[in-house]
Amino acid sequence: MDEARTSHPIAPEDFRTALANQAAGVVVITTRVGGSLAGLTVTSFTSVSLAPPLVSFYVDGNSATLRLLRVAPFFAVNILAGHQADVARRFAAKGFDRFEPADFWYPSEISGLPLVKGSAARLVCSSRATGGGVLQIGDHLLLVGEVVSAEVDQESQPLLYRKGRFGHFVDHDVDPSGVPSGP
Ligand SMILES: Cc1cc2nc3c(=O)[nH]c(=O)nc-3n(C[C@H](O)[C@H](O)[C@H](O)COP(=O)(O)O)c2cc1C
Repeated sequence: MDEARTSHPIAPEDFRTALANQAAGVVVITTRVGGSLAGLTVTSFTSVSLAPPLVSFYVDGNSATLRLLRVAPFFAVNILAGHQADVARRFAAKGFDRFEPADFWYPSEISGLPLVKGSAARLVCSSRATGGGVLQIGDHLLLVGEVVSAEVDQESQPLLYRKGRFGHFVDHDVDPSGVPSGP
């Protein structure tokens, strides 16, 4: 039974279709090394540990941003707000400078990392080695950071991504159609 499972992995299209059903929060990871800026849109972000305060995300091994992320002492996590689908698209698209015009971000006190204005929360993280560096898992690399500071916009709702579309969070109390009828 186990042998049959491992020798017949799911078809890639079926894998993608199944996972597309998971609604995920959207963040933009940014970093800076000297005068060079880099950043990409990510849904693989997650909290890892409370003490110490660790977070993680996975980056495709072919990502251009990895070149800086591998050597940068710090990176920022910008948790996008519900109205920031354009920012998510910007940091997933290629062929232009994602940081220009520079009117939608400002530099962090630590390391001058690009922080996205109006995002739901902005975390500055020091890069944490995972077993001597970034850890390769399949075709992605796991990056871990220790959160050293955070700015939060208490009023913000998060941006969500599901089945290739962006949306925003609706509280059950706000949307009665989503309220379970209860026991
Ligand atoms: C909603 C969304 C979520 C994404 N999540 C990830 C992710 O978790 N990891 C990843 O490596 N790429 C992810 N991507 C793709 C990258 O943002 C995209 O490939 C980007 O162009 C990579 O840029 P780079 O090659 O300059 O690093 C996501 C894209 C979108 C639109």
